[in-house]
Amino acid sequence: MPELKLNQAPAHVRHGSNMGQPLTRRDGVLKVTGAAPYAADSKVEGLLHAVLAVSTIARGRVTHLDVAAAKAHPGVVDVMTPENRPALAEDPDAKTNPFMFRLDLLQNDRVRYPNQPIAVVIADTLEAATEGAALLAPRYETEPARAGLDTEGRFSPNTVGVGNPAEASHGDVEAGLAGAAKRVEATYETPAQYHNAMEPHAIVAHFEGDRLTVDTPSQGLAMAQGRLAGLFGMDPKNILVRSPFLGGGFGSKGFIAGPQILGVLAAKLTGRPVKLVLRREHMYGPVGHRAPTRQTLRLATDGDGALQALHHHTLTASSTFDDFFEPASDIAHTLYASPAIRTSHEAVRVDSGTPLFMRAPGEATGSIALESAIDEMAEACGMDPLEFRLKNYAEIEPLSGKPFSSKALRECYRQGAERFGWSKRSLAPRQMRDADGLLVGYGMGTATFPALMFQANAKAIIKRDGTGVVESGTHDMGQGAWTAFAQVAADSLGLDIEQIEYRAGRSDLPDAGIAGGSAHTATAGTAIHRAGAAVIAKLAALATENPDSPLYGAGNAGVIAREGRLHRRDDESRSETFAAILDRAGLDQIEESGAAATDPAAAGAYAMHAHGAVFAEVKVDPDFGQIRATRLVGAFAAGRIINPKLVRSQLFGGMIWGVSFALHEHAAVDHRTGRVMNPNLGEYHIPVNADVPALEAITVDEHDPHVNDLGVKGVGEIGITGSAGAVANAVWHATGVRVRNFPITLDQLI
Ligand code: MOS
Repeated sequence: MPELKLNQAPAHVRHGSNMGQPLTRRDGVLKVTGAAPYAADSKVEGLLHAVLAVSTIARGRVTHLDVAAAKAHPGVVDVMTPENRPALAEDPDAKTNPFMFRLDLLQNDRVRYPNQPIAVVIADTLEAATEGAALLAPRYETEPARAGLDTEGRFSPNTVGVGNPAEASHGDVEAGLAGAAKRVEATYETPAQYHNAMEPHAIVAHFEGDRLTVDTPSQGLAMAQGRLAGLFGMDPKNILVRSPFLGGGFGSKGFIAGPQILGVLAAKLTGRPVKLVLRREHMYGPVGHRAPTRQTLRLATDGDGALQALHHHTLTASSTFDDFFEPASDIAHTLYASPAIRTSHEAVRVDSGTPLFMRAPGEATGSIALESAIDEMAEACGMDPLEFRLKNYAEIEPLSGKPFSSKALRECYRQGAERFGWSKRSLAPRQMRDADGLLVGYGMGTATFPALMFQANAKAIIKRDGTGVVESGTHDMGQGAWTAFAQVAADSLGLDIEQIEYRAGRSDLPDAGIAGGSAHTATAGTAIHRAGAAVIAKLAALATENPDSPLYGAGNAGVIAREGRLHRRDDESRSETFAAILDRAGLDQIEESGAAATDPAAAGAYAMHAHGAVFAEVKVDPDFGQIRATRLVGAFAAGRIINPKLVRSQLFGGMIWGVSFALHEHAAVDHRTGRVMNPNLGEYHIPVNADVPALEAITVDEHDPHVNDLGVKGVGEIGITGSAGAVANAVWHATGVRVRNFPITLDQLI
């Protein structure tokens, strides 16, 4: 893999204030010129190509594979099946912690879901491997598929997401419903959605003696390294995972998935480096997906429109062999004040791959249902939807009773509504038309996502020439991590960003945890900030304790780092360069580490969430029902914004996904076979440019002293929440038809 040379920041950057600047991404030129290396670009001498054969049935047993025919095909080197798959040190079905998901690694002939890998064909060329896989012509013993939310065997899961309680409540919901002036009960259905990152999962695996190097996209380098170490019985130190860039992750690359590990097994089997890239349709099974849900909302208000009860119930589906339950009801813990709130979950097991995290897992699915129900309740009360939300504004987190660490949602409502022109909305539906006679609808939704912290480490170095190096095994899924973290590093070291070498995307760097839960900038950023502060403290000690320094006697707190120098705080004219301090001390460099993790005291005392308000305009053809989302304005409060340009892109991405959720995305499952019928980008609809509305994302000032040292809340996932509901509510407002089955399609309107 080539050395990365990131281009320099624009010259207008002010020294000492890199954070908050809308810098262009440092890796931009690499990406647009095709020079940014992705996993499948890795070229290793003697590389073989592996292609998966996957099951076409949902449940049963593989009874025959024509391995001889595949092996006879010119160029095919070997065929890996349960018969000859190299032994593993750990059972792929073992689950020793809740973050360990069961994998299909050819452990036997069982088929547990459609598109489960059943063999791997390894050849000199991709074409030969592809043809070899086709020649396997599997035969099966087929059992009936279980598919859909009406599958028998409903049960209450113990936990949802990873370790969240499946049931929660405060107050008496039934009493609140019984005594209410107005009531709404409605059931909403969201379909399965599948990850369609532009870059499919891919791996290049290469053993050299007892060392393994893999190039593979990862949102969690150390976890991937650890899982490989467990499965292959290796010392993690002998495994290098490289992942400088990902072509999107969205949760599907949080854990190393089965097909990636099959690539490593193929390298082990053949004794040669192997590349395995998933075909698009192979993404629809073994790498996670967003589970379908059926959500029932029961709401009640008093005569003034104040909520008296809110019950959010979710029925979802998991696989037959592992546990992941979409925590869709949990969004109701946070958003609206009510003396009685209850959330609950039920599940069925179906013959699908195990559902997993998909951008805003729980919040995205839950939000479209809750925001639709809130809109229905506002209508029942004869109130404007914004007025209704303000009436039920949560001053403290309703379920926990905790104060918010910060919450500028009121300001989001105000700025978003003003920018959008919400005041021009008619109260009743089907009242507004554009010049072409199309029905126009305005809708809104509240956005929220938890401000999480996981754990991360970083190292900061100041070199004798006065420049800085910061290392942290962070991940760039496309969000701009290379730039945002370098901005944090530059400020923490008192250097200009051009003087920072930022090293990331490798497992031999300090463990930066996971790029997930919208917590990467907050967590790894804090670790980087602390590493920088620690190395500056060390440098300050070298100067202030030395009588030859102009800073002598100032004390550690008496100096400040700026523009590559330490200055006395009481007399800024007295300063010394980093280089001079190191030179006098005879040191080539100094380094320090920093770490960040959840602060249990702060997390115990405060409810920490980002918030937002999204306003949508749609136009609907009154004759044909064709729906267009035409305009989306979101105002978000997410604490400190490290880079407004990158954050805007993140918010746009989320908002477009909200449009997708409301109007486009739907994995259509054939209930007879359990198969997804549209496993490709032609028929699995996501918004193309013509479907994307005019977008505006505003970030509202918010100072949060509790979330972390930097005050960062994260923006990766919040954009979907609120947006999907806003679009759905706008469709109702345009047409007067309430569609509760997502995505909303024209046939449901006419
Ligand atoms: Mo996200 S679903 O935490 O990558």
